[in-house]
Amino acid sequence: MGTESLASLVRDDRVQARVYTDPAVFSAELERIFAHAWCYVGHESQVPRPGSFIRAAIANRPLLMVRGEDGGIAVLHNRCPHRGALLVAERCGHVTRFRCPYHAWTFRTDGRLQSVPLPEGYAGIDLEDASLSMQRPPRVAAYRGFVFASLAADGPDLETFLDGTREAIDNIVERSPTGQVEVAGGCFRVRIRNNWKIYLENMHDGLHPMIVHQPSIEPARAVMRRPDPLSPLTEFALAVIAANGQTYETMAGLPVRLFPFGHTEMAAFRANPALDDEFAAYRAELARVRGAERAEALMREARLSTMFYPSASVQATSLQMRVIIPEAVDSTLIEAWTLRLVGAPESLYRRTITLANTVHSPSSVVKHDDVGAYVRVQQGLGGRDAWVDIRRGRNDASTAVSEAYIRNQYRAWRDYMSAA
Ligand code: FES
Ligand SMILES: [Fe+2]
Repeated sequence: MGTESLASLVRDDRVQARVYTDPAVFSAELERIFAHAWCYVGHESQVPRPGSFIRAAIANRPLLMVRGEDGGIAVLHNRCPHRGALLVAERCGHVTRFRCPYHAWTFRTDGRLQSVPLPEGYAGIDLEDASLSMQRPPRVAAYRGFVFASLAADGPDLETFLDGTREAIDNIVERSPTGQVEVAGGCFRVRIRNNWKIYLENMHDGLHPMIVHQPSIEPARAVMRRPDPLSPLTEFALAVIAANGQTYETMAGLPVRLFPFGHTEMAAFRANPALDDEFAAYRAELARVRGAERAEALMREARLSTMFYPSASVQATSLQMRVIIPEAVDSTLIEAWTLRLVGAPESLYRRTITLANTVHSPSSVVKHDDVGAYVRVQQGLGGRDAWVDIRRGRNDASTAVSEAYIRNQYRAWRDYMSAA
């Protein structure tokens, strides 16, 4: 598909339906956006010891993130260089070597070929040749333990790419008294029958919660009004659900910041749960380690979500990382991981888990309402004569009731799609 015809599908004020429904556009997006950007792979804590691995994917290429014998982290293509078989089917685990299940070629954890059966069949061929190793993406880098990879050899370095959004990661890491963060508690996976961009376009959408989540807001409020005592975690979960009942005025007061490369960030309407009285000792410890002023700022900075366009969104205050994995033009896998602040109280981590269960679990009373709305957008865009309107708030400051963040995403989309 030509660059010109792709660019004509996205205007400053509206987007053509084919951008969400045409498999040719989707293929071009994988190659021009996902295969060029820095995409999030995982957190270093997910591969704790030599031989630990997790699976990941960028632009439909299956990958592995592996801890090597030297303690370093590598990202490898999860594909056998012999005849192309997926080497590892498990989502995570531990190995001393990778052994292909098809013809038993084996590889060291750094991807180098170790042995092949019947090596005499390769007379005259150098089995040490790099083309017979598991291949590596050209660029892999980490920011404070969060690992990204780029399938492109050229482009901005990771720190430049993350400009504006790094503070969200700084905030998370520094809220741990030890400066360590880890992924804990497993992962929720939801496969949604819609284009990946429909999910991203809901990222800071303060126009929908009071409408879409209405079926859960009222019941939550009703339970909260009852005189019966509730456990602290139940009370927390109900407050999270009821918080979707914010007014338009509140949403209009929440700034949404726009950054290069399509990244965006929305302020939170929920305060950091660590400000509750029960966490006073943790806050005192943080003040001792970071200094009173920095510790106070870390607690008061409230971010609902920070989008690392196009592949991930971190909810810094609530300690959730969501990974966006486009699988087909109308199918997107969302992975939601919880982060634990090492050295912070276990009861604070319980809140993180409760929030994940409340809003990111497939059985959450909140999630399915969002998914229903996304799928309706996909269904409504069936014809090629349809357009999506993204003009709201174009003369105003960027807030949660403006579509400025969507326009920012499409500026990046056009830049990637029209790059040579
Ligand atoms: S495809 Fe892996 S050994 Fe043949
Ligand atoms: Fe929602």
